[in-house]
Amino acid sequence: MTIVELQKEILKIKKEKDICILAHSYQAKEITEIADFTGDSYNLSVQAKSAPQSTVLMCGVRFMAETVKILSPQKTVLLANPSAGCPMAEQMDKELIEGVKQQYPDHTVVAYINTTAELKTICDVCVTSSSAVNIIRKLPEKNILFIPDCNLGDYVAKQAPDKNLKLLQGGCPIHARVSAADVQRAKRRHPNAEVLVHPECMPEVLALADFIGSTSAIQEYARTSEKTEFIIGTEISIAHHLSYDCPKKRFFPLSKNLICPNMKATSLVDVFRAISGSGGEEIQLDDETIRKARRCIDRMIELG
Ligand code: 13P
Ligand code: SF4
Repeated sequence: MTIVELQKEILKIKKEKDICILAHSYQAKEITEIADFTGDSYNLSVQAKSAPQSTVLMCGVRFMAETVKILSPQKTVLLANPSAGCPMAEQMDKELIEGVKQQYPDHTVVAYINTTAELKTICDVCVTSSSAVNIIRKLPEKNILFIPDCNLGDYVAKQAPDKNLKLLQGGCPIHARVSAADVQRAKRRHPNAEVLVHPECMPEVLALADFIGSTSAIQEYARTSEKTEFIIGTEISIAHHLSYDCPKKRFFPLSKNLICPNMKATSLVDVFRAISGSGGEEIQLDDETIRKARRCIDRMIELG
């Protein structure tokens, strides 16, 4: 079967079974093409809430499918490839953070959405990369324990200097791989290009960037900019998608190492198997986890 034939088959089954397909922007083009909605973590969580379909198929990583289930417990939520997890989301568990909370009892716990449903049950507010600065500025509390990404936390702390952020050593192993030397090398090769980076990168990388933003913000900036060359400092798929969106512009990945194997784990065949009932995994969360984890996601949507 060709890719186009498989896409047609998926679209046919999707229509027959009335299934909504959500794809994170790091998914491959053949998947984003058949998705009802593609976006960053924040857009996906909002979209999941308003989707009219009773079944949602998530093409992304596990915490994203869990977020959909928390927001829409009555829906059947499928993760297209059950092995797709986010290493950052699994770095800190509930027991560890319960211990840290005891050391900082007067701190509000702000969790990046890249956390497990279980960990979210003991956090106060969730944020995504596109909403973190805005939400933290709006919070009435001054003392904040920000988990798990210390690079995003450092970026937020600089943008909200009146807040007191306590950070832990966690983060995305893919974005953290990029160094200031990579940026300098890319700038030497492409002197006319603007450098657009994700806030999960190291502070010294952010310091050399022309623009810092979530995956959707980077895409929007590049699409609407009058400039024609860009160095893209986030998962490599964003440079690929942008070159299809704007074929007259040039997009250079900041590093060839910016490949997330978990985001790449889902194939079009996985989507076909999940939608036709022979693959994927249905996300199961107990009522108490959903109820407790939902509080901090609802607060994120309210404040965001
Ligand atoms: P955003 O989609 O919020 O930009 O996050 C990127 C990411 O690493 C998702 O896993
Ligand atoms: Fe997790 Fe980083 Fe991969 Fe996103 S890019 S899923 S944060 S490991």
